[in-house]
Amino acid sequence: MVKLRIENTDFEAPEGSTILDVAMGAGFKIPTLCHKNGMPHYSSCMVCMVKDNRTSNFIPSCSALVQEGMDIDIFGVEVISLRRKALEMLFAEHRAECEAPCRVVCPAGYNIPAMNRLIIEHDLKGAIELCKSEIKSSEILCTDCPGYCENACRRKKVDISVSIRNLKLFIALQIIKSVPDRIVADGRIEKTDHETSGKLNRADRPFTSRIGKLESFELQEWLKECGKEVTRNREISDINSASCESQSCMHCDCRAIDNCRLRELAQDHKIKEKAEKLINSPIVKKMNQNTGLIFENAKCIKCGLCVRLCEDSKEESGLCFINRGFGSIISEPITEDFNNILKSKSNEVIEICPTGALSKFK
Ligand code: SF4
Ligand code: SF4
Ligand code: SF4
Ligand code: FES
Repeated sequence: MVKLRIENTDFEAPEGSTILDVAMGAGFKIPTLCHKNGMPHYSSCMVCMVKDNRTSNFIPSCSALVQEGMDIDIFGVEVISLRRKALEMLFAEHRAECEAPCRVVCPAGYNIPAMNRLIIEHDLKGAIELCKSEIKSSEILCTDCPGYCENACRRKKVDISVSIRNLKLFIALQIIKSVPDRIVADGRIEKTDHETSGKLNRADRPFTSRIGKLESFELQEWLKECGKEVTRNREISDINSASCESQSCMHCDCRAIDNCRLRELAQDHKIKEKAEKLINSPIVKKMNQNTGLIFENAKCIKCGLCVRLCEDSKEESGLCFINRGFGSIISEPITEDFNNILKSKSNEVIEICPTGALSKFK
């Protein structure tokens, strides 16, 4: 057994244990991004750094093994400052938005891209449920709003903005039809079950990353998620015209918005993103037409978890690193097509990815 101190408390741990194992086992919370129990160490993100007061060295707790006499500091000022720097470095290259521009400017914070995805799939029930839940928690209705969302819509940079207001009003009309007791004289929805508890408060919004400057050829990458031949509809009369118009949405939001460990850590460590970004490679979106898997290089922190997950698979090709140094990126093997990889492991790689770099359309 090895004797050491962690946060001024004495511990004994079996030889070969990592500092992270022992600290977490004792109830201390150390953030990690590139570590997963049961997987080989990679130690690339450095957010799990701790300090050994005995030697004054900073060490990654996920891979450093316990040693006799260590005196580990997890929460000291220097350690937290180093963790913040590690996160800032990850965000220096991170060119993506957690929330779509339309949602950011919407005074009610309506999840417009999610609504669009449901309408594209003709999932009227889902779109109604989403909008009903949001109306409950907001005092603002689209009937009262001049349409800030359409003004901010990224699609405008390609041709014309998505008819967001008309799509929302189309869904609102379906709600009115399904909940007749909520109609008032002028046809507006009366918020009978108004709740303030879930109301989105702009100041409380979690960390939102910024994309930085976007080149016009990079804008084309967003169009990969749009319907191939979209007929634009400024008038929305039924689910077919609504679905068609929704297909012009470029899905600027991040699918990992509520499930991103990187975002959570940025929020916890009060990270402020810089507008200027380190650009090592342009934004690229890859879509696997067979499985629906999407890979966005600009959200990838190169933690290597997806690579390690695929490494032992003999049955199918997975993801790997290509290039060297700062130019290294996650990719399909150079002998493979992105459409032919991860036939069975798509969901697993999405699950293990600590960011929204791997996702599925819906
Ligand atoms: S990967 Fe995480 S931090 Fe980046 S845009 Fe998506 S939710 Fe935000
Ligand atoms: S393209 Fe879609 S997600 Fe992007 S700003 Fe417009 S409505 Fe929102
Ligand atoms: S795609 Fe996700 S899991 Fe794979 S290296 Fe990038 S961030 Fe890590
Ligand atoms: S979790 Fe330890 S270096 Fe990434």
